[in-house]
Amino acid sequence: MKIVSTVEEVRNIIKVVKKEGKSVGFVPTMGYLHDGHLSLVDKANDENDFVVVSIFVNPTQFGPNEDLDRYPRDLKRDESLLIDRDVDLLFYPDVKTMYPEGFKTYVNVEDITEPLCGGKRPGHFRGVATVVCKLFNIVMPDKAYFGLKDYQQYLVIKTMAKDLNFDIDIIGMPIVREADGLAMSSRNVYLKGDERESALSLNRSFAIVEEYLKKRVRDPYIIVDAIEKFISSHPYTKIDYVEIVDKDSLKRINKIDGSFLLALAVFVNKTRLIDNKIFEV
Ligand code: PAJ
Repeated sequence: MKIVSTVEEVRNIIKVVKKEGKSVGFVPTMGYLHDGHLSLVDKANDENDFVVVSIFVNPTQFGPNEDLDRYPRDLKRDESLLIDRDVDLLFYPDVKTMYPEGFKTYVNVEDITEPLCGGKRPGHFRGVATVVCKLFNIVMPDKAYFGLKDYQQYLVIKTMAKDLNFDIDIIGMPIVREADGLAMSSRNVYLKGDERESALSLNRSFAIVEEYLKKRVRDPYIIVDAIEKFISSHPYTKIDYVEIVDKDSLKRINKIDGSFLLALAVFVNKTRLIDNKIFEV
């Protein structure tokens, strides 16, 4: 595996790879890799001749009071995991490389960035869309892989790629979970002692939805209310949002009819966790 940190090095390598007629798969990450990230890497390896992973903790997608400074990092461990997975190229730029002095251009995807995490983390998706747009222009992959754990992010990137005419297939991959159902996240290391048990209230709330659907409840607000009560009954939890929305527009629905998305964001102490699930009726 080659490890490079400049844009020029990536471009030179990709030029040669493309000349050889090889397909390029790309997995952008912020590092501190777990099996969720690695499932994307494995899929990229299955579907492409050459696989690029980026590790960059992107400052423009963090709010002023968020965890940019304490975001977990362990490059050596990440490197060895990626070598084990036969990754061809690791792009590990620093902040000055991605945002040199005088940087002025941002990508703003409208509408679907307003609800859910967009409403709670102003500027977050502007930072995500901007950095992913830059990474796409640097790596120029044929396919790029994103986890459905960050469902809204996946929709934002898919919309950006379509609107800005990127010739890149955007592929969404299922959420990888711990044995107890907790969605894997780099932020799970923040959970100490019995905070971890409270964190399980997110994925355990899916059973509440099933239960209400079985009882033929079709009012989303009744279900949201039951989930909020359930999650709030666990110590350390503070709900950021619990929403039942249309899975394409992310707008709230007033009646359940067909498929819908349940999206959750909950603080467990200071750790903000998200999870989601699509249900079919
Ligand atoms: P990061 O949180 O490191 O996640 C990188 C990719 O891994 C994202 O596509 C995310 O959805 C996916 N992922 C994380 N946990 C997962 C899980 N449990 N199962 C499946 N996939 C999972 O998302 C980002 O970084 C950044 O916003 C980024 C896209 C790199 C832009 O900075």
